[in-house]
Amino acid sequence: MASDLVIAGWGSNAFGVRSTRGNFNEPPPTAQRERLPRAHHVLQGIKKRFSSMPTDVSVNPIAPWLGGKRNLAKRICAIIDQDKHDTYAEPFVGMGGIFLRRKSAAKSELINDKHREIYTLFRVLQEHYVAFLDLLRFQITTQANFARLVATDPNTLTDMQRAARFLYLQRCSFGGKVTGQTFGLSPDRSARFNLTTLERDLEALHTRLAGVTVMNIDCAEFISRVDRKTALFYLDPPYWGHESDYGPDVFDRDRFEQLAQLLSGMNGRFLLSINDVPEIRALFAWAEVHEVQTTYTAGLTDQSRGKRAELLIGNFEFNVPR
Ligand SMILES: C[S@@+](CC[C@H](N)C(=O)[O-])C[C@H]1O[C@@H](n2cnc3c(N)ncnc32)[C@H](O)[C@@H]1O
Repeated sequence: MASDLVIAGWGSNAFGVRSTRGNFNEPPPTAQRERLPRAHHVLQGIKKRFSSMPTDVSVNPIAPWLGGKRNLAKRICAIIDQDKHDTYAEPFVGMGGIFLRRKSAAKSELINDKHREIYTLFRVLQEHYVAFLDLLRFQITTQANFARLVATDPNTLTDMQRAARFLYLQRCSFGGKVTGQTFGLSPDRSARFNLTTLERDLEALHTRLAGVTVMNIDCAEFISRVDRKTALFYLDPPYWGHESDYGPDVFDRDRFEQLAQLLSGMNGRFLLSINDVPEIRALFAWAEVHEVQTTYTAGLTDQSRGKRAELLIGNFEFNVPR
């Protein structure tokens, strides 16, 4: 403690520091000695104040992901960070665009995604971080390497190779696409897979994932298993009209009605983000619904890019920050 060091320093000169006002081994003049207890109290006060402030745990997602909430993240995280909950749960976590950008951590945190590659990457980062980094050191950004990995069946790989393949493809592909990936060439920036810059984010993510439960089951089962009064769920399902963007047989149009039913009877609170279409407004007519503007950037055509309205839906009262 700084104040203790100051007090111990007088008379002992434990750190061999020379005082500009004379011999450090001598006791301080009376006036200074009287000021010390006061300084001690001020320092204690500052320490107490800072220790009661929540530390910011937010980290960067390590790769883009289709539907990642980059533009809305600030507003969604502000709503979540204001809520008091013991359990935080995400049934459709993707690359963690919201989970990871939240400033505070809940006592218990559970994340889930039906996509096997996402689950494997998070688990490998949790359990085999050092060996994983070693494996990544030998990757280089070339179109040939990208094509080779696209053509490789992930089921033929070990979990660690599988996670490395997935991370490499997501970082190098255009717009964070999940299927039909193409090599994203960026002549005006450094190579997309550069471990010297990526390592810092991987380390931060490894640390952030400590104590987080990572699951790989269907969203409905996840919600039913985790639901409790003290829980807050953030849900980011595939957009209406884009149900198969994450592969065949994981989600379809009927799932929106099931989801609305499940959420209407839940014990905990939820916040859901989705594109603004009349069908979703009708399904969630019973809930709190806010319209927000955002910008889509990953589309291949002009029609699929640009400004759009999204909905933030919840079963509690909330305000959307500007
Ligand atoms: C819009 S993305 C989530 C993006 C995420 N918020 C992010 O920042 O990366 C939707 C996610 O839902 C997952 N998903 C689709 N169907 C699912 C299901 N039935 N159960 C669980 N996850 C599912 C997809 O794999 C995808 O990662």
